[in-house]
Amino acid sequence: MASEPRRASVDVVGDVAAWGAHFCLFYETKQDLLDTLISYCKSGLEREEYCLWIVAEPLTIEEARAALKNAVPDLDRCFADSRLEIVAARDWFLPGGVFDGKRLTASWYEKLASLSARGYPGMRITGDTTWLSKKEWTHFCDYEDGLNEVIGNQRLELRQPLAGAVANSDACLAWLSSEPPNLDEARAAADRTIEAATRASDIIRRIQALFKKTARERMRVNINEVIEETLGLIRSEMLGNNVSLQTELGPQLPPVLGDRVQLQQVVLNLVKNGIEAMSGVQDRALQLRIRSARYEPNQIVVAVADSGAGIDPKVIGRIFEPFYTTKLQGTGMGLAISRSIIEAHGGRLWAEANPSHGATFQYTLPAHIESVQ
Ligand SMILES: Nc1ncnc2c1ncn2[C@@H]1O[C@H](COP(=O)(O)OP(=O)(O)OP(=O)(O)O)[C@@H](O)[C@H]1O
Ligand SMILES: [Mg+2]
Repeated sequence: MASEPRRASVDVVGDVAAWGAHFCLFYETKQDLLDTLISYCKSGLEREEYCLWIVAEPLTIEEARAALKNAVPDLDRCFADSRLEIVAARDWFLPGGVFDGKRLTASWYEKLASLSARGYPGMRITGDTTWLSKKEWTHFCDYEDGLNEVIGNQRLELRQPLAGAVANSDACLAWLSSEPPNLDEARAAADRTIEAATRASDIIRRIQALFKKTARERMRVNINEVIEETLGLIRSEMLGNNVSLQTELGPQLPPVLGDRVQLQQVVLNLVKNGIEAMSGVQDRALQLRIRSARYEPNQIVVAVADSGAGIDPKVIGRIFEPFYTTKLQGTGMGLAISRSIIEAHGGRLWAEANPSHGATFQYTLPAHIESVQ
């Protein structure tokens, strides 16, 4: 799922749509609908993308198939390769006659994970809401929010390892075609490709687990190690931005029970936000402080404080909402995901303004009780 803009081939949308674009289509006649969707699906199939067409009234599956067959001569091959699926909206959205948004969202995660694993350069899906009745409307709106979250998560989490896999595969080819070929370097680049791809599939698995919440891996985790490991990943970005780092990691903290990678993700999101909040500051030192300590008898608290722009009190209640962002390149998912991870671990994540400058984000986690002396 590449993040660069792709051709949507839908007239009103313009020629390009970024990864994650999710738009509504209003149509007057059946022919309008067919014209738009045929152009949309044809363009995807020509680009080797995966297409799912969820058909509802006024169209039938047979009509959709026949119209697409006229536009795409090798349609049978697309079906045979499972690159194209045409399904009925009632079967997709209302299996057994019931609309279950949660189940549906989970099935999108699975679909995205399996498509990513099969290496499609993109996917396009078209669905129709003519099947929707008034009583399902609220549930459907919740489901749409969840769907946006699915898209946002994929975009946020998968970009880096996939870009790494592509860059290392390119490097591998370059070493193989040099004169004479440098097999050691090519092998090293291939190893790095495998590593990046494995990481991508690990992330997909964990996103699915995050959504299903109960399926998460739970192990004894030392929170200071999690912090140190994460800082290792982002140290060069801090140096590059002239950010000085202070850590006060509490000694002999009890472990927590949790998913190490998810907990790293939280630290990474908070530290990145801190660095980004300080990017425009000129008149004072750029300082990031990370503290961990015991909190109440059986809890641990982690605090990430910056000397950045601070949070406008008017929006402090909104910053944890999915897609709330004030950044040009932001997805607005970092804090929403972090809060959902912390809450799934039985903790709490909140933000406070600092007395002078900047903000502090803190979260608690229950200590692993058996280990508390
Ligand atoms: N340390 C901070 N200081 C000031 N404002 C912050 C801080 N952290 C987050 N915010 C505000 O909260 C918003 C949401 O943060 P969040 O991490 O969810 O998304 P983002 O950073 O905008 O995008 P991304 O999805 O790339 O993380 C930010 O756009 C910013 O306005
Ligand atoms: Mg962020």
